Amino acid sequence: MASIEIRPIADGLTFGSRVTGLDRNALADEDIRTQLNDLFIDRGVIVFEGMEATSAMQMELSQVFGPLKDHPVDNVDRADRDHLMGVIELSTQAYPCVVEIDGKPLVTWQPWHFDHAYNDELNRAGVLRSLKIAAEDGQTGFADGIQIYNDMDPAIRDKAEGLHLLYNLDLRYTEQKFGLPKNFRQIRPHDKDFIAMAKTLPRSIHPVIWTRDTGEKVFHMTPYGCQGIEGSEKSEDFQLLQEIWDEAMRVVKPYRHSWKLTDMVIWDNWRVLHEACGCNPNEERVMHRTTIKGDYGLGRFEQKPELAGAG
Ligand SMILES: [Fe+2]
Repeated sequence: MASIEIRPIADGLTFGSRVTGLDRNALADEDIRTQLNDLFIDRGVIVFEGMEATSAMQMELSQVFGPLKDHPVDNVDRADRDHLMGVIELSTQAYPCVVEIDGKPLVTWQPWHFDHAYNDELNRAGVLRSLKIAAEDGQTGFADGIQIYNDMDPAIRDKAEGLHLLYNLDLRYTEQKFGLPKNFRQIRPHDKDFIAMAKTLPRSIHPVIWTRDTGEKVFHMTPYGCQGIEGSEKSEDFQLLQEIWDEAMRVVKPYRHSWKLTDMVIWDNWRVLHEACGCNPNEERVMHRTTIKGDYGLGRFEQKPELAGAG
């Protein structure tokens, strides 16, 4: 019988596991598939080490956790639109935006976020792997919304309780209302027309805090594309959101993954925030990510999609 080895992702963290020994034989084993799903619910992030480094394996692994779905935004680069449905490509070439944090220029940097905040449906998870690794930096960070919720100052947490935030596809850092790192500036913008992209969908709405079926409360927000608080939309709302976000960032205990070509990482997009730490703009970095279908059922659009852009 096939078997896998499971160990914690890092000392001192309340989430995340590492799995080794997952080959095609083990992947076909129903008991192991159940074990992996249970582990995913329990730990939120799984780093699979020593994997066969192919798109086929990435897609097969993803489908242990649910069916693949196509990315909701058409102009996001696909790895292979005809043959690898559900796999997107994230590369230094496709995302040329360069930012500077504490004097260090970084390409493919992205702040803490959950995927598809701009959509009503939140994909269950993604599986990420690296095809070209920068010589230094280029880590992906993961942060557990359950840990953040549990460790936040209850007085500030109470202010977040019951809030629902508005999001859209305007992901320009120059327009971000709160939550950028200190000593941040944009050196080179994205080459995407985020204003036009934002008009293709109504604004989405997601809760800041939600409760899982397993009972834990989850802190789940991002400043990335956040347009304000539903039902309020006053400029001072962003001071409140900054206060809540600063508290989350004060207590967060993240795991930052340094990539190998044989790694694959899955994270629970309903629970875990992730960040791209960025790398030297002279380096090339290529990642592939799958999109695993599902929904937590708490997101919605302000209006029906077919009405978006009208007027
Ligand atoms: Fe992401």
